[in-house]
Amino acid sequence: MFEILIKLILIIISSNSIACHASKYKQTHENSHDEISQVIDQFFSTRSAYFNVIKCIKNDDVAGMIIGTLLFKTHGSISYRIEDCKNLKDSTKRRFVLIIMDHLNTDLMIEELTPNRFDYSGFYLIYYIDNQSDIDILHYLFKKLSDLFIYNVNVICNDSSGIQLRTFFFFNERSCNSTDPLVINKFENNRWISKDFFPRKMRNLFGCPLKVATFIYEPAVIMQGSYDDNNYTLVGSEVEILKEIANVLNFSIQYSFDPSPGAWGRLKPNGEAVGAFLKIVERKSDLMIGSLTRTKNKSYFISFSSVITFNGIFVVIPPGAPFSAFEKLIRPFDKSVWICLMIILSLGFFIVIAVAPKPRSLMRKIIIGKEVKMPAMNIIVALVGGSQHILPKRSTPRILLMSFLLFCLVIRTLYTAALFKFLQSDNSKPTLSSIKEVIDKKFTVYVDPTYYDNFWEMKILKR
Ligand SMILES: *[C@@H]1O[C@H](CO)[C@@H](O)[C@H](O)[C@H]1NC(C)=O
Ligand SMILES: *[C@@H]1O[C@H](CO)[C@@H](O)[C@H](O)[C@H]1NC(C)=O
Ligand SMILES: *[C@@H]1O[C@H](CO)[C@@H](O)[C@H](O)[C@H]1NC(C)=O
Ligand SMILES: *[C@@H]1O[C@H](CO)[C@@H](O)[C@H](O)[C@H]1NC(C)=O
Ligand SMILES: *[C@@H]1O[C@H](CO)[C@@H](O)[C@H](O)[C@H]1NC(C)=O
Repeated sequence: MFEILIKLILIIISSNSIACHASKYKQTHENSHDEISQVIDQFFSTRSAYFNVIKCIKNDDVAGMIIGTLLFKTHGSISYRIEDCKNLKDSTKRRFVLIIMDHLNTDLMIEELTPNRFDYSGFYLIYYIDNQSDIDILHYLFKKLSDLFIYNVNVICNDSSGIQLRTFFFFNERSCNSTDPLVINKFENNRWISKDFFPRKMRNLFGCPLKVATFIYEPAVIMQGSYDDNNYTLVGSEVEILKEIANVLNFSIQYSFDPSPGAWGRLKPNGEAVGAFLKIVERKSDLMIGSLTRTKNKSYFISFSSVITFNGIFVVIPPGAPFSAFEKLIRPFDKSVWICLMIILSLGFFIVIAVAPKPRSLMRKIIIGKEVKMPAMNIIVALVGGSQHILPKRSTPRILLMSFLLFCLVIRTLYTAALFKFLQSDNSKPTLSSIKEVIDKKFTVYVDPTYYDNFWEMKILKR
């Protein structure tokens, strides 16, 4: 009886859950979001192993449903990270991004598009969940994104002519700042007509003018002629490179030239800029040439081209200090030799002083000899190479004296030879031989202020 009851309950529960699954599946099937999953399949997953889904809508259920469907459709061919636009982490730069949002949150989403979180040259697919035929919001969105220099943006639209992809071509035949939403692809018979989802927009700038901030910085930028008469031309290595690029990308160059020295200005780590950098930061110019150094800090505020030249750093070090007179004197012998010598001499003096005061003792007769009157003085005389006038008669003091004289002779010769060799060589202390030594020995390093900005992150200046 009890068993039957349990079984019945189980059946009720399971039939319930089956019904629930069926209705969910029906719901997703109704709106299968093939248009999104095909872009992911055909574009994102061929270029990257993962992409970012960012939801920016009030109603979380809708986003959950769309994402669930995508998960099901992409068959795990690509991995992704789902985030909420109000809670974005700074950790990585997102490059392939699907944004699901509603009109009301457009401004909020744009505010969150900061350069440390998003790669502005990345690829953005935007899906609005409300009124996908509203063109005004696209105008607004594209204007804002082009201000951020985000150009690879597609929005999925759905109006009377069906589902389409729309984007903007900032540079085109008619305009140099267009943000008109144009149709680039259509979704018909459950598939996109074209496979080209993100057309290249920066290959042809249609002769549009780009403002180039520059200054004299030879040999990158050289001014020929007279600036005051407005009769000058700019030449130099980077001017030539710029002209070639302009030729390939089809843009015209408008110089914003300042001949005064130091016109390049500065870009501080906190973003404060002066000079030519200010023109870039304030977007009064589009680009800047003149031997700029690419650094991590500056890259946060302005985007650099590829590096075209590399420079080594030079550290100029003074010659080694000359030896002082005293150093020259003791330099020929090692410290250990000097110590041994001192021990031997003090031992000699000690013995002599201990034995000398008793003229009649046997020890004195054996060691010094009774004829010798000033034995301590004799040690000094022997050391500097003077001659002994009174010699002891006994053989023991004679042998001792002779060995001491020989010892002094050897030491003196060695010292003179070493001193001679030392005086022949370069008369200063050895200098530093590597950057590592400069760092390890904590030398003070002086650097020109203009270079300091570029190199302050280097270990040699980090103190
Ligand atoms: C969608 O936007 C268009 C254009 O702005 C407007 O004419 C239309 O009434 C909107 N539809 C809805 C359902 O809000
Ligand atoms: C597109 O809009 C039409 C009505 O204008 C609607 O019936 C259809 O479901 C929409 N398609 C998608 C995929 O949203
Ligand atoms: C686009 O450029 C034209 C001149 O070329 C200017 O009149 C217009 O205001 C610009 N539009 C925008 C949106 O910047
Ligand atoms: C460069 O731009 C001009 C002006 O729009 C255009 O007429 C020309 O065809 C373009 N050149 C190339 C090679 O596309
Ligand atoms: C401009 O400079 C060039 C050479 O530098 C000279 O030949 C030419 O006469 C100058 N033109 C004017 C208007 O001063």
